[in-house]
Amino acid sequence: MNETKILVIDPDETSRTFLANILRKQNYTVSEAASGQDGLQKIIDFTPDVITCDSALNDLSAEAIIIKTRQEIRYGNTPIVVFSNQLDSEEMDRILKAGANDYFGKSGQALMGFLNNISKLLVDARVKQSEELKGALAVFVSAKGGTGTSSLCANIGMNLSRFMTKSTVALVDMVLPIGSLALITGIDESSNFNVVEVSLQPPEKVTPDYFRENLARPHDWLFHLLPGSPDPGAASSFNVGNMHQVIQTLRKTYDYVLVDLGRSFSRISLPIIQEADVIVMVLSNDVSSVSLTKRSLDYLITQNINSNRIYPILNRAVGLEGLSKAEAEKILGMEIRMTVPYMMSNLTLANNQNTPIASKFPTDTTNLVLKQVAIEISQAAIKTRSEHVAKG
Ligand SMILES: Nc1ncnc2c1ncn2[C@@H]1O[C@H](COP(=O)(O)OP(=O)(O)OP(=O)(O)O)[C@@H](O)[C@H]1O
Ligand SMILES: [Mg+2]
Repeated sequence: MNETKILVIDPDETSRTFLANILRKQNYTVSEAASGQDGLQKIIDFTPDVITCDSALNDLSAEAIIIKTRQEIRYGNTPIVVFSNQLDSEEMDRILKAGANDYFGKSGQALMGFLNNISKLLVDARVKQSEELKGALAVFVSAKGGTGTSSLCANIGMNLSRFMTKSTVALVDMVLPIGSLALITGIDESSNFNVVEVSLQPPEKVTPDYFRENLARPHDWLFHLLPGSPDPGAASSFNVGNMHQVIQTLRKTYDYVLVDLGRSFSRISLPIIQEADVIVMVLSNDVSSVSLTKRSLDYLITQNINSNRIYPILNRAVGLEGLSKAEAEKILGMEIRMTVPYMMSNLTLANNQNTPIASKFPTDTTNLVLKQVAIEISQAAIKTRSEHVAKG
C-alpha cells in the first residue's frame, strides 16, 4: 500500500466512489467524506497528504473548506484539488483565490491530468513542509509601556488555542526585568521554572521533553507558558546567549510560539524579532505611543526587517479620546491591521481574576477581534514561510 493518503470529499456517492476506487487501484490510501463537515473532521483525523473536493457540497462551500484548511499551520500546505460539474471561470477564480492548487471540470481528461500531477503536488508540499517542521514564531512588542502588550499576547494566545484546535500553543515571557504573564494567567509563582532558569541550563538539557515536562499549564487558558523573570534580581543573571536555542527548541515542540518582548528593542530582543514570522506591534491611541512606534518601525526597517512581517495593532487602552486609526496610520506610514476596542474596566477585571476575556466576557465584541487576529497571525506565519521557501 502506498503511504500517500488522499481524502476525497464529494456528496455524490457515484462520483466519490469512482474517484476513490481509481486512487485505490493506484495504491493510494483513500478516505471518503460525503459532506463538508465530515471532510473537515477527516482532515484532522486522517491527516491526508492530498485533498480532493467537489465544488458543490451540501453543507459548506468548497472555499470554506479551503480557507479553514489553509488557516492552520499543520495543514496549511496540504494540496487541495477541486473538481466541478460545471466548469465555470467565475467559480474557478473564487476557488483558486481561496487557495486551491488546481481546479478541474469533471472529465476523463481532467482526471488523468490530476493523477499525473499528484507526485508534483506532493513534492511542492514537502518542500514547504521542511520549513514547517518548526512552529510559527510571533513576537509581541511595543514602543511604550502599558499599552496592553501582555494582555493581548495572553488573550490572542488563548484565541489561537481555541480556534486552531489541533495545534499546540506556547507563550514565553521575555519582558525584563519582571514578567507579567504569570500574574495575568494566575500560575503558581513559587515555582522556579521560568525563562531566567531555562536560559541558565546547559544547552543539552533544553530538549522538547524538558519543555513538555516543565512548561506551566495555566488554569482556564488553553496554552502552555514559560513564565518570565520573577524579579529584577533574577533578571540580572539572564543568559541571553542561550535564548536562540531555547526559542528554536520551543518551535520544534509547539505549533505556535508567542513571545512577549514588552517594550524592548535591545540586543536581547532583536535577534528574536529578526527570526519571527510575525511581529505584532501594539500601540495605543495616544500621540506619544504612536510617535514612539513610528521611530521603532523605522529602526526595524534599518535592521533588515521586512515591513510585510509587521502586524500593527491599535489598542484603545486609554479610552475613547486620542488619535483615530487614520491619524495613527498617517503618522506611522503603515496600515494598522486591527483595532482592539476600549474595554473599560473589563480587561483589568479579567486580568485581576486571571481569566481570559473569552471566558469572563464571552459576549464582548473584543472576542471577535481577537479571534480574527489569531487567524491572521497564523495565515501571516504561513505566508512568511512560503516566501522563505520561494526564495530558496
Ligand atoms: N483595550 C483596553 N481596554 C481597557 N483596558 C485596557 C485595554 N488594553 C489594556 N488595558 C489595561 O491596561 C493595563 C496595561 O496592560 P498590559 O499589562 O497588558 O500592558 P503592557 O503593554 O504589557 O504593559 P508593560 O509595559 O507593563 O509590560 C492593564 O491594566 C489592562 O487592563
Ligand atoms: Mg507587559
